[in-house]
Amino acid sequence: MAMFISHSSADTEDLGARLGPLARSGLVIALSGDLGAGKTRFVTGLARGLLIPGRVHSPTFTLVNEYAGGRLPLFHLDLYRLETRDQILSAGIEEFLEPAGVSVIEWAERWFGDDAPAGNVRQVRIEILSETERKITYDDFGA
Ligand SMILES: Nc1ncnc2c1ncn2[C@@H]1O[C@H](COP(=O)(O)OP(=O)(O)OP(=O)(O)O)[C@@H](O)[C@H]1O
Ligand SMILES: [Mg+2]
Repeated sequence: MAMFISHSSADTEDLGARLGPLARSGLVIALSGDLGAGKTRFVTGLARGLLIPGRVHSPTFTLVNEYAGGRLPLFHLDLYRLETRDQILSAGIEEFLEPAGVSVIEWAERWFGDDAPAGNVRQVRIEILSETERKITYDDFGA
């Protein structure tokens, strides 16, 4: 587990961008943190680190956005609208736990609680310290 203090949204994006090159196919990143913590900023950086062209935006009408054209495909899930575990379990998204590429899941705590499954899942938790500061704790990606 590593810890990083972010002082700006650019810092948070840069952390994602640094981790992108470490990602291997099959990796699942479970992102947790309150509204406006910076989860989508982190995904924007991760996409940059995977050399994905184009813009990242959270899936709104669908549960999953897929970004191609990078080193690995990136599947971006946002579970915000799924309020209960039952809704999540009936959404048919288990396939994204064994991705042919990398999955990154906003509001992953709604699916996994505080303990994401071991194996190919790595947790990234973003805590809001102040308007611009965030404490980001994350599992090692390389392992
Ligand atoms: N250190 C920081 N890291 C990330 N975002 C920051 C930071 N400081 C300020 N911000 C601002 O906080 C907001 C984070 O928005 P973002 O959409 O990434 O959050 P989110 O966690 O995805 O929210 P949601 O739960 O609504 O999906 C942005 O407006 C960003 O500019
Ligand atoms: Mg978001």
